[in-house]
Amino acid sequence: MDNKKRKSYFIQTFGCQMNERDSEVLAGMLEKMGYQQTSELEQADLILFNTCCVREKAENKVLSYLGELKDLKSRNPELIIGVCGCMVQQKGMAETIRRSAPHVELLFGTHNIHQLPDLIENILASREPQISIWESEGQVLENLPSQREFPFKALVNITYGCNNFCTYCIVPYVRGRERSRLPEHILEEIKNLVADGVVEVMLLGQNVNSYGKDLENIKIDFADLLEQVNQIEGLKRIRYMTSHPRDFNDKLIQTIAKCEKVCKHFHLPVQAGSNKILQKMNRGYTREQYLQLVEQIRKYHPDAVITTDIIVGFPGETEEDFQQTLDLVEKVRFDGAFTFIYSPRTGTPAARFKEQIDSEVKKERIQRLNDLVNKIGKEINEKYLNKTVEVLVEGTSKTNAEMLSGKTEGNKTVIFPGDSSLTGKFVEVVIEEPQTWILKGKIKGNIK
Ligand code: 5AD
Ligand code: SF4
Repeated sequence: MDNKKRKSYFIQTFGCQMNERDSEVLAGMLEKMGYQQTSELEQADLILFNTCCVREKAENKVLSYLGELKDLKSRNPELIIGVCGCMVQQKGMAETIRRSAPHVELLFGTHNIHQLPDLIENILASREPQISIWESEGQVLENLPSQREFPFKALVNITYGCNNFCTYCIVPYVRGRERSRLPEHILEEIKNLVADGVVEVMLLGQNVNSYGKDLENIKIDFADLLEQVNQIEGLKRIRYMTSHPRDFNDKLIQTIAKCEKVCKHFHLPVQAGSNKILQKMNRGYTREQYLQLVEQIRKYHPDAVITTDIIVGFPGETEEDFQQTLDLVEKVRFDGAFTFIYSPRTGTPAARFKEQIDSEVKKERIQRLNDLVNKIGKEINEKYLNKTVEVLVEGTSKTNAEMLSGKTEGNKTVIFPGDSSLTGKFVEVVIEEPQTWILKGKIKGNIK
């Protein structure tokens, strides 16, 4: 096809890796239709926002960006503006978006992303808006095309949906029930990725520890799957996201110890440190059980990097409850934590709980929590001074084009001088300047 005539697309992704992976599939389908990617919004024939609704802030951002696209659409009536993903999957949201941004002509949810080509064809043929939202999940679809963001690392879905219903969380309502992909499909996909140059995979699921529970006639759990993925020749690193502390059992801890490719990075969202709040959140574990899990992980993996997610200001959280969160953070000494202010989500039980916390109190608490998390993170990183770490080079640093950026096994970002031809390679870096968020160093020598 003549390059000049090829239509172009611009996709903006909000939210988690699950959405990033969906965007790769959306991009793959568009490439197959003959579209090419552009990083210039003004150049695009199709603009697609793949949205998140976990917190209100993410939704407001999308609505405000959509408002800004109005002018572009009036200058270029042929432009198709679409919104998809978790935000659209909520009841009534498609109508809300159409009302506030009538220039949006394409709306679809999380369960029918494979319909994108048909919906675009319909718009081009009729110029009628296309709104298609499936109420519930269909079967797991295999073999959709995909356009990977990185040549050397890949996101691989292993489960879709969530059955946990934590009381603050909208995910089970917009991503449906838990469904596992068949192991042979996952293994085949990873083998193909490795043949295509991939050295690191991230196995994705809302709760990876539930893997296999819904598969009929097959007895397999997440630990078994990890063992099988670990055997794939040519693959160097295996990551996974997200695991639920309640389901992180001894078998899994020991399997990870046996599997040399599985990164010793444990992201275990604790959410809160008070048993009262954990119970109101429906998390299914106590602070004591969580602390015991951390102890068990450190017994088998003394150098484990442990990170977490924490919500502050959940309904009913008193100063004493919050102190319990700070105390847990001190006890565990996380390498890092994603911290969030509780955001009530319509349709979830916690949004209806009494004793919602005042926004000033929430802000003040998150500040105190961040100060503590950062202080501990810096102290832990300082221990890396003069140590050598193995880094997978991801490319030039976003903040300094002369520096390279990469990740350690523990998912720590390392910045160091080097040539961009090292992208996708493993190098050894000596750390010279550890900071709170990053480690700065210099290359010792190429190793692989
Ligand atoms: N408000 C604030 N944070 C939330 N999270 C999920 N739902 C909410 C909410 N309603 C956080 C949790 C989760 C992370 C992905 O987002 O900490 O682990
Ligand atoms: Fe949401 Fe809880 Fe499911 Fe995670 S495990 S997606 S926090 S309901």
